Amino acid sequence: MSDIKKVAVVGGGTMGNGIAHVFAISGFQVKLVETSRELADKALNTIGKNLTRMVTKEKISEKDKEEALLRIQPELNLTEAVKDVDLVVEAVPEHFKLKKKIFAEIDEHAPEHTILATNTSSISITKLAAVTDRSNRFIGMHFFNPVPVMKLVEVIRGLDTGDEVIQAIIEISEKLGKVPVQANDSPGFVSNRVLMPMINEAIYCVYEGVAEPKAVDDVMKLGMAHPMGPLRLADFVGLDVCLDVLNVLYDGFKDPKYRPCPLLVKMVDAGKLGDKTGEGFFKYD
Ligand code: 3HC
Repeated sequence: MSDIKKVAVVGGGTMGNGIAHVFAISGFQVKLVETSRELADKALNTIGKNLTRMVTKEKISEKDKEEALLRIQPELNLTEAVKDVDLVVEAVPEHFKLKKKIFAEIDEHAPEHTILATNTSSISITKLAAVTDRSNRFIGMHFFNPVPVMKLVEVIRGLDTGDEVIQAIIEISEKLGKVPVQANDSPGFVSNRVLMPMINEAIYCVYEGVAEPKAVDDVMKLGMAHPMGPLRLADFVGLDVCLDVLNVLYDGFKDPKYRPCPLLVKMVDAGKLGDKTGEGFFKYD
């Protein structure tokens, strides 16, 4: 199924612009769908900066960068964007109602053969697939931040996902230079089921006065060789995203071990969401 050539990426935020970046640099035509000209420009600007970073590191040439940028076509109209693509990767914020609305529109206007993939970090693939009339062509394609750097694509099979669709997404992930790893649909899949309780426990250490944020992170960096400590990583991912995922785990398993730490809830309420707001467990310029 290597006949996927045209791709639409819906959402140009942190994950969406990274996903568009890796498709474009791997030779795919990409439509990057955003809701306003400003947001589309912001996404393209970020992609340009990250491609320049790769040129500086001599991973790609200036020509590769220019060609990749030319392959990305910004689109403000979702219906138009999906009408002739082979694959749609959705990367909008983690709200079921928003994704439901978007997938209903995509399903109506995308060609029959088009595979619909979601980059959701925890919402049920089966539940999202049920919004469409093609649950057999619906799949989870979960990238990791920063997308141009992280090797993993978690490939998640919904209840009805066809074997040929799994195979196509595995092949395309490899073409992007990524390593696909398969998981079945379950709250948090594998990645966030393991990662988020660790982050939550690190927050409890601060909440209960066991250690300061820097000390918690130093323990995990120096003792366990994590590239970022769990609190730095929580800020990087976004504390709102961490809370959303923990709530999905808590609701999905009905198990108190996933209860989000009250300090995390308080920080989200205060608008301290990490890197994107300039402050979380640490401060950023
Ligand atoms: N685009 C392109 N290249 C980038 C980049 C980007 N956005 N960000 C970093 N890089 C490159 C740098 O150019 C550098 O390249 P080099 O190896 O050739 O020198 C390399 O990545 C490392 O970057 P830096 O030297 O600037 O910084 P670090 O060595 O501190 O690494 C990091 C940064 C790669 C982010 C590292 O700290 C790391 O791996 N952190 C953990 C990230 C992680 O766990 N991500 C998963 C989050 S969970 C998730 O996304 C799932 C969701 O569902 C919640």
